[in-house]
Amino acid sequence: MNNKLLHFKCKITIFIFDSGVGGISVYSQIKKIFPEIHFIYLLDNKFFPYGIKSKNYIYKRCVKILKKISYHYYISLAIIACNTASVSSIPIIQNYFSFPIIGVTPVIKDSINITNNGVIGIIATKTTLENYYVKNKIEDFRQNCIIEVLSSQELVFLSEKKIQGLNISLKKIKKIFQPWYNLKIFPDTIILGCTHFPLILDELKKILPKNIKFLDSSIYILSKIKKIITKNKFLFNTQKNIILYTKYTVKIKKIKKYLISQGFNFFKKIKIN
Ligand code: DGL
Repeated sequence: MNNKLLHFKCKITIFIFDSGVGGISVYSQIKKIFPEIHFIYLLDNKFFPYGIKSKNYIYKRCVKILKKISYHYYISLAIIACNTASVSSIPIIQNYFSFPIIGVTPVIKDSINITNNGVIGIIATKTTLENYYVKNKIEDFRQNCIIEVLSSQELVFLSEKKIQGLNISLKKIKKIFQPWYNLKIFPDTIILGCTHFPLILDELKKILPKNIKFLDSSIYILSKIKKIITKNKFLFNTQKNIILYTKYTVKIKKIKKYLISQGFNFFKKIKIN
């Protein structure tokens, strides 16, 4: 290996992916702390949404994505910026790749210490909430407090809509949370178990009772990322940030402005069958 290549390989490139724009909520948390990282973000919009697909299907899709991207680009670290894809593929997927892979999963453990009224709400996709790892964790922590689960794909669609610059109905969002309004005690701590949901945090704050604490899983992976960067002595890298998408649609055109505002300046379609 010549020196030039060796030098290039020490520069950090983080690959992030999600079915849609949800992973941008993860990306922006990382970028806040590590602005000088080269990011490649894949929107697997051809297979959007993930939230209603089976665990096995999503697992296979994740393997395909990581194989294809690591063939074309050097990856220092991959982040599965999707709860649905993370719970469906981590930790098994790590065995197939030489670079580290981090996923985001609902932060149930931390919510226990945060709740005051003992009622925790978790909102995520159907596939995330049906995952045995998530279900087991919920059952474990139910010994300490009440955990109310809510699955919603519509909230994912509304988040995508917002990023396209379209109006989203607060009434519709409130209706999604109706089951929790029928409870004796409304959760005072809400785990956002889908990376799309922090994108509509302002709207959630408007319609839900005041003083709710929202837990965003992406914050909990920042220390892991820092550890990997320090351990591998990666050099920071100010190459242009790239957006890859698996299907060209009008939606891509609509979200381009937003993605540029988030620091992406190169857009390209990639074929992943
Ligand atoms: N953003 C994904 C998650 O965190 C779900 C989006 C989808 O359903 O495609 O679960």
